[in-house]
Amino acid sequence: MILNNENIILIGFMGVGKGTVARALVKYSDYFAIDTDDLIESMENRKIKKIFEVEGEAYFRALEKKCAIWCEKNITGSVISTGGGFYKQENIKKIGTVIYLQSTFEKILEGIHNSPNAKKKLKKRPLLNNLAEAKKLYSQRVKEYEKVADVIINVEDWDENKAVKNIQKALSK
Ligand code: S3P
Repeated sequence: MILNNENIILIGFMGVGKGTVARALVKYSDYFAIDTDDLIESMENRKIKKIFEVEGEAYFRALEKKCAIWCEKNITGSVISTGGGFYKQENIKKIGTVIYLQSTFEKILEGIHNSPNAKKKLKKRPLLNNLAEAKKLYSQRVKEYEKVADVIINVEDWDENKAVKNIQKALSK
């Protein structure tokens, strides 16, 4: 497909659908989908929520940094979905092409609430516990996501197949 053995990194706010789009992107190809939060949970053998609770956010961010360095050295031919704060890693552009999945805060929340496992999705994201704070974080990050992105794909309609087509179109230019 589209990748030429390069990686694609999906960035964007919590709950925007990075994992879903990653899985849809690799479905009919040899490429593999991995997720930075999953890698961190696997290394730590505990959930992100637990890591935040027990160790605090700074500890988690240090793990993200370690993960970013490892991805740069070791991953090829993959679609990498990331935690919502991973875009801050200074080597992110060296890992691969950065695609920002863009949506409004309201649409993201609507999507989470309409999903069959909404409770689980909210529970596993400590930074979504306080909606006012989460909205503030969203507003701060929007411009930063745009700045880091090589490609911006709007996913407000929650149609991952359309997102895949739009990503393929953007990358073939
Ligand atoms: C975070 C997003 C989460 C997870 C952690 C911090 C963030 O990932 O990495 O809770 O800073 O936005 P998702 O974007 O998959 O929810």
